[in-house]
Parts: sequence; structure tokens; C-alpha cells
Amino acid sequence: MITNNHIKDIPVLSCTDIVKSYDDGAGKISVLNQISLQIQASEKLAIVGASGSGKSSLLHILSGLDSPTSGKVYVNGLDIWNESVSKQASIRNQHLGFVYQFHHLLNEFSALENVAMPLRIAKRSKDESEQKAEEALTLVGLSHRLSHPPGKLSGGERQRVAIARAIVHRPDIMLADEPTGNLDSKTGEQIYDLLLSIQAETKMALVIVTHDLKLASQMERSLTLDNGKLITL
Ligand SMILES: Nc1ncnc2c1ncn2[C@@H]1O[C@H](COP(=O)(O)OP(=O)(O)OP(=O)(O)O)[C@@H](O)[C@H]1O
Ligand SMILES: [Mg+2]
Repeated sequence: MITNNHIKDIPVLSCTDIVKSYDDGAGKISVLNQISLQIQASEKLAIVGASGSGKSSLLHILSGLDSPTSGKVYVNGLDIWNESVSKQASIRNQHLGFVYQFHHLLNEFSALENVAMPLRIAKRSKDESEQKAEEALTLVGLSHRLSHPPGKLSGGERQRVAIARAIVHRPDIMLADEPTGNLDSKTGEQIYDLLLSIQAETKMALVIVTHDLKLASQMERSLTLDNGKLITL
């Protein structure tokens, strides 16, 4: 059984006054405008919004993958952008799990090695890492594909591997950026069901960016990103 290691009563993830603007030389684009958000332990949150509204930008900032132009991000109460680069990496590696829209798996490694990677990076032994990776791959229904490289898996199977990699270190929160963007609707539904069943079993918090309003309605809270602000519709 995979359980998380969250500190009680502090929001697992929060941000205050997040501003994000990009300047690509052709002019400044303002994407996020003073966004504040608190995500509690075990909470299920959907973020919806039009293409280009800034959903990926927000998710990357919440996950510590990209820095805000201004504002703060707290993981279990810790201000991550106030920490050293190595501490930021260890906070991400310990507390956060991220599922990208396009899996981002490494083709030169097997499914098992891909899933074991976050634990190996955290300097856990090969045996322990691979045992935990096998447990996570079993949880997503892929115990029969451990030695396959991602290139020899179907799109849905690849997303399952990506989910296993995001949960192998028992994060407090999983953030998924349109995890079914590239899948047919039936496979997409199976992936959503899997994410929800993992959340129910592990009690980790779950944030899903989605275009699918039916899925968003299955979450406890659904927020819409519109004109740089998060609003409740
Ligand atoms: N690195 C960048 N440099 C310049 N502009 C960027 C950069 N990344 C994103 N943008 C711009 O910021 C805006 C928001 O992008 P973002 O990827 O966050 O949107 P999104 O809501 O995730 O869209 P989608 O639903 O299509 O994935 C877009 O207009 C995009 O062109
Ligand atoms: Mg996006």
C-alpha cells in the first residue's frame, strides 16, 4: 500500500500572488495575474480553461518546474524559491509527482527503470528502487510490461508508466497536465479512472488540468483559469 508523507494541517501546496509574464523579444505577454491558491491534503482539484489561458504555466510554477515572475510557492509550508537549487530538487523529488501531457519517458530505459528513476536520483538502492517501481507498475496494471521500453508500449500504457513514475516516491500531491491529451476517449477515461482510484487508495492530493468538463465535475473543486485569474464558475 502506498501512503504519502504529508505533514498534518499545513496546505500541501499553496501559492500567493503569482504573476507570470513572458518576454520573448516581440513584447511582454502577461499570463498569470496575482493568483493565490491553497490545496489541502487529499484534495481533488480540477483546473480548466481555454487553450493558451496559462494552465501549463501555472502547473509548472506550482510544481517548481518553472519560476514565477513574482509571488511565492509553498510546499508543505516551505517557500521553495527561497531554497537552494539542490533543496528545491529534493523537495520536488520527495513531495511532488508530475504527469506531463506527453509522458516525457526515456526510451533508452525500460518501464521499470523509468519508474525507478526518481528513487535512484534520491540515492535509494537499486534493489529498493526497482522493488518500489514494480509495486507502482503493478498498481497501474502493467506488471506484465516491466522490461518494455516506452517506444514499445501503447499510448495508454505509456501514460500508465508516467503515472507510476509520478507516484513511486509516494508524493503528497500529484499534478497532471492534461494527461490524456494524446489518447482516444475510451483510453482517456480509463486513465482518469486510474488517477481517481490511486488518489482514493493513497489519499494524495490530486490536481488535474483538463479540457474535460465531465472529469472536472468528478473532482471536489473545479477552478477556471480566465484572463490570468482563477475563478469558480
Ligand atoms: N516560454 C514561453 N515564452 C513565451 N510565451 C510563452 C511561453 N510559454 C507559454 N507562453 C505563452 O503563455 C500563454 C499560456 O501558455 P500555457 O502553455 O500556459 O497555456 P495552456 O492553458 O496550458 O494552453 P493549452 O491548453 O493549449 O495547453 C500562451 O499564450 C503561450 O503562448
Ligand atoms: Mg497546456
